Amino acid sequence: NKVVLAYSGGLDTSVIIPWLIENYGCEVICFAADVGQAEELDNLEARALQSGASKLIIGDLKEEFAKDYLFPMIHSGALYERKYFLGTSIARPVIAKHLVQVAEQEGADAIAHGCTGKGNDQVRFELAIMALNPTLKVIAPWREWDITSREDALAYLEAHNIPFPNNNPGLYSRDRNLWHISHEGGKLENLANAPDDSMFMLSNSPKSAPDEPETVEIAFENGNPVAIDGVSYSPAQIVMKLNALGGKHGIGRVDMVENRLVGMKSRGVYETPGGTILYAAHQELESITLDRETMHMKDTLSLQYAKLVYFGQWFTPLREAFDAFFSVTQKAVTGKITLQLYKGNVIVIKRSSPYSLYREEYATFGPSPVYDQSDAAGFIRLFGLSSKVQALIQMDDVKV
Ligand code: ARG
Ligand code: SIN
Repeated sequence: NKVVLAYSGGLDTSVIIPWLIENYGCEVICFAADVGQAEELDNLEARALQSGASKLIIGDLKEEFAKDYLFPMIHSGALYERKYFLGTSIARPVIAKHLVQVAEQEGADAIAHGCTGKGNDQVRFELAIMALNPTLKVIAPWREWDITSREDALAYLEAHNIPFPNNNPGLYSRDRNLWHISHEGGKLENLANAPDDSMFMLSNSPKSAPDEPETVEIAFENGNPVAIDGVSYSPAQIVMKLNALGGKHGIGRVDMVENRLVGMKSRGVYETPGGTILYAAHQELESITLDRETMHMKDTLSLQYAKLVYFGQWFTPLREAFDAFFSVTQKAVTGKITLQLYKGNVIVIKRSSPYSLYREEYATFGPSPVYDQSDAAGFIRLFGLSSKVQALIQMDDVKV
């Protein structure tokens, strides 16, 4: 039998290879998803084979990730618990989809992953796998083995004669992709500890960011970002460009305590520089292109969508239904937003759209072709009528 392993080349997934062979007697095929984690994928094959895998398959998922996962999320404006840009959550379904594809191509009967039994990621991977191919088994070594430390893991590899560079242990549990990097664990577990400046990887501190603001214009078509300063880019390129720009100006850092799906609270620090800029610009464009009721309904659904993405329920009819709603709302979200980036701030300078619902001649306090101020008197009388009736009855009650 064959198992496809979600492989990163890190210590945990390196140990999983010999562990699977020892405990399941299976052939291990490694799959490494390139979702923009910017890690060396070059010597990964040698490392996988050295650890006992029969082969390594690398999938470049960056454009698919941006176009089919990040962009729909931008349309929704989803933020988990008001702060989290969902960088890890949104990458899991696309990775899982390709794990399933590889398993089917290779005739494997199981998928293994290196997520711990305490986190969200195990749920996200497994819900996606169950939805896409319910006949595949899932193996989660962290829920089975008794390896609990880096030392245990290194000892296990040594006992199996597998060389592993014992360098750079890394103080934090990190997850990086095109959209973000997350930092958890280590010193962050104590809420009294502010993150060290040296922990951050995608952004300057606002303190050391340039003293001059930088202006950037982002163009959207139907809610999708398509160009920066008049130059068109692919979906993944747009995000990468804005990561560099936002990171330079100290944009997109979030430090929060969040509610994990599995019940505990956990502290995480995130860097989402390009995403923060894109959300700000997109929201601004919606402010002129969406009518009030659609926008307000979107805001309520956005909360639900964030929860769904965080909980790993991507491959569900509910997500498709949400996307159908959001995609209709994006029909007129076409136009350009100019922003100034300055020491951690995203400041809106200009908004324009051929579908703008804002009209200077309607908004003006001077005479307007669509608005007669005397209409407001009757409107307010009826809009407030139920309050007035209630208050009148209370007055009568007092008298009685
Ligand atoms: N807490 C975040 C989330 O649940 C980040 C998880 C990071 N994952 C990781 N394997 N380091 O989405
Ligand atoms: C893990 O526990 O594998 C990472 C953190 C998480 O999934 O929430």
